Amino acid sequence: MEQELSQIKHEALTAIKAAENLTVLNEQRVKYLGKKGSLTAILRGMGKLAPEDRPRVGQLVNNVRIELESLLEERVKTLKKEEMVHRLANEKIDVTLPGRKQHLGHLHPLTLTLNKIKNIFKSMGYSIAEGPQIETDYFNFEALNLPKDHPARDMQDSFYITNDILMRTQTSPVQARTMQAHDPNSPIRIIAPGRVYRRDDYDATHSPMFTQVEGLCIDKNIRLSDLKGTLTSAMQQLFSDDLQLRFRPSFFPFTEPSAEVDMTCVMCHGKGCRVCKGTGWLEILGAGMVHPHVLQMSGYDPKKVSGFAFGMGVERIAMLSYGIEDLRLFFDNDLRFLKQF
Ligand code: FA5
Ligand code: MG
Repeated sequence: MEQELSQIKHEALTAIKAAENLTVLNEQRVKYLGKKGSLTAILRGMGKLAPEDRPRVGQLVNNVRIELESLLEERVKTLKKEEMVHRLANEKIDVTLPGRKQHLGHLHPLTLTLNKIKNIFKSMGYSIAEGPQIETDYFNFEALNLPKDHPARDMQDSFYITNDILMRTQTSPVQARTMQAHDPNSPIRIIAPGRVYRRDDYDATHSPMFTQVEGLCIDKNIRLSDLKGTLTSAMQQLFSDDLQLRFRPSFFPFTEPSAEVDMTCVMCHGKGCRVCKGTGWLEILGAGMVHPHVLQMSGYDPKKVSGFAFGMGVERIAMLSYGIEDLRLFFDNDLRFLKQF
């Protein structure tokens, strides 16, 4: 028995010294000192010894237990310290690492273009007016001199909600809304940006939903030359001083005379390409002198005041500003496109 004891002692001491972490160390504690441990087994087997041998062997077993326990305690301390050192080395924070970047979005190219247009007109004394995108037949057509069955409605007849309510086809209804909300004796200078809707093809220069900026100026003695001067100055500020505009005689029921205004195609510099359909020009807006009947219908006296109005296509202008060949890119929301602005 004594020989067995010294063998267990030797084995246990070696195992405890070799334990490389706290888990292994605890396994060793259970193996030798636990309820079913080998040292405990020896104590239990003492009944078989001669009574006079018991105190001596008991003492020996106890000594071994004390020795093992104190070694265990020492190893626990050492291992805990080692683990702490290890953790401190591994978990240290490198405060010199760069932070994680937040990806900021930015304004859409159409919004950027709109903001530029707004700022130019604001600097000329215009204020911003708004109107609803769901509009009445009255404001979208009738108040603009397009009575029911007027043939010029055909080009725009579009998305009706009821017989009398539709998605507005142009920002021009804001003209009539502004006049009717305004004192006819004081001048008007507004622009009205917003979305409009038409039954149009979806191609490189057309979309069934697009953006317009309406302009309206009413005062005493407003003339066609004021319209030309205002638009030329605005477009030159938007593009460049040497920009050319072309005023083509045209027809709108709410202006007389009327013009469609084209700009040199910046894609081909007037040579003719896919974007300008070979003409060298790109239509950017419609304009004219406010029709006397339109003034009258909204409470203004055409003998006392006159005015001009225009409606420009913002997508077309943005295409020209940024050299974009296809209007549909604005609405695809492809990040590879949007990230370029
Ligand atoms: C009008 O909408 C008139 N309300 C403009 C106006 C206002 C005339 C005030 C006189 C006085 P027009 O249908 O031509 O006119 O459209 C104006 C501009 O919108 C065009 O020059 C073009 O730049 C743009 N546009 C027209 N249709 C589309 C479309 N489907 N997609 C993108 N842009 C368009
Ligand atoms: Mg047109």
